[in-house]
Amino acid sequence: MTQGPLTTEAGAPVADNQNSETAGIGGPVLVQDQLLLEKLAHFNRERIPERVVHARGAGAYGTFTVTADVTPYTRAHFLSEIGKETEVFLRFSTVAGNLGAADAVRDPRGFALKFYTEEGNYDLVGNNTPVFFIRDAIKFPDFIHTQKRDPYTGSQEADNVWDFWSLSPESTHQVTWLFGDRGIPASYRHMDGFGSHTFQWNNEAGEVFWVKYHFKTDQGIKNLTQAEANKLAGEDPDSHQRDLRQSIERGEYPTWTVGVQIMPAADAATYRFNPFDLTKVWPHADYPVIEFGKLELNRNPENIFAEVEQSIFSPAHFVPGIGPSPDKMLQGRLFGYGDAHRYRVGINADHLPVNRPHATEARTNSRDGYLYDGRHKGAKNYEPNSFGGPQQTGRPLWQPLPVTGATGDHPAPLHAEDNDFVQAGNLYRLMTEEEKNRLIENLAGSISQVSREDIAERAINNFRQADGDFGKRLEAAVQALRG
Ligand code: HEM
Repeated sequence: MTQGPLTTEAGAPVADNQNSETAGIGGPVLVQDQLLLEKLAHFNRERIPERVVHARGAGAYGTFTVTADVTPYTRAHFLSEIGKETEVFLRFSTVAGNLGAADAVRDPRGFALKFYTEEGNYDLVGNNTPVFFIRDAIKFPDFIHTQKRDPYTGSQEADNVWDFWSLSPESTHQVTWLFGDRGIPASYRHMDGFGSHTFQWNNEAGEVFWVKYHFKTDQGIKNLTQAEANKLAGEDPDSHQRDLRQSIERGEYPTWTVGVQIMPAADAATYRFNPFDLTKVWPHADYPVIEFGKLELNRNPENIFAEVEQSIFSPAHFVPGIGPSPDKMLQGRLFGYGDAHRYRVGINADHLPVNRPHATEARTNSRDGYLYDGRHKGAKNYEPNSFGGPQQTGRPLWQPLPVTGATGDHPAPLHAEDNDFVQAGNLYRLMTEEEKNRLIENLAGSISQVSREDIAERAINNFRQADGDFGKRLEAAVQALRG
């Protein structure tokens, strides 16, 4: 950057950046001090609304490399060849805390990945958990209200959290996961990532496959106990953010082995679990994880506000060969994110360097709005046109889905082995005795803060239904703490 005199926003040299202009020595400040007005006004507008969820996060750039042939399943160009590399940007986050919250907390971690492909940006906006608390987008705002600050107390309240979870038994699986050992990762590098939802892959022949993405950390899983996290959150609120930045500065680039579970479309109707229910996993014995890539993070952003705070990720950003599934949560998210971006960053958010395509260019007829930079110059802004403007391809990114029946507020259909507790019970029974002890201790510590017996009892009852022993031990632990 060239060095020169300090200037105003319009480029005029600044004579004095220490003293504002006054009417005489010791007199009142003058409105004609343009520099002062400009500085105060710009300062007042430094913040944009923080993300309504996942406000607290850190990001880094890197590379995704294909390591196995997945062309029988998807025609996505960035996955078309072993060895093919695609630039990525990944933003990690916690969910409930505000922008300045501590990193070392019990909360899912966001794992939002943008692939800058030559067919446009593909965003996979996942978490470090394979499942979620609810299975219908219509419940999301209520759920998040229970995780955020209470309208009266201004604090997060155990009453609200457990009231909602206990009245939403489909959350039992995710809550069992969250209060287990993996509920507080030691850093963003030492945790896995998941696409969580089921997505559609389709190949050149038009065949459809349902897939779930897995990102397995090559650093190894490392977690914090509740006591370790409480201490770290107080001493170093930025622990995860600093760890990520410093490891990349040291040249210790974190990597993940990327895999996918693949279900042929014909299996979906009769699979034992509804494959589009976000509260369920597909056991690996049913659909093994097939390795197909390596993800490496190797470059820190230079400016956190420009590249992390203003970054936008949308589950609706697909590329040819990849599309949505009928998962009701995912369908809601296809709307929610673009709307959030237009509110939070503005209608031209997708023009910012971190958000725009890097390996191709966006060619739309959308124009103008706040902070439009004139990038389209004099090109026509309508289609069809006779001036060589961009044209539609006639080929959808994903394959159509057969539908039947009448419209209605239908819950996600239940398959043969579906209920709200089966997979929570399976997860509990997989744990060692020590893991179970820590899970019970963590859950009891939280449930014992609930002020009402009926809410605490209803919460315990969900775990009882997952596994009798789970419920019995939890009840005893809560009673011991409540006295
Ligand atoms: C219907 C359910 C959901 C809705 C309506 C929803 C909505 C939102 C909104 C509005 C944001 C803020 C976006 C922004 O301001 O840029 C956000 C962020 C995020 N959500 Fe969701 N969400 C839902 C479920 C999920 C699920 C199931 C996952 C993971 C599997 C997830 C992962 C994330 C992540 C990782 C971010 C942060 C993205 C970033 O780093 O910018 N969300 N969500």
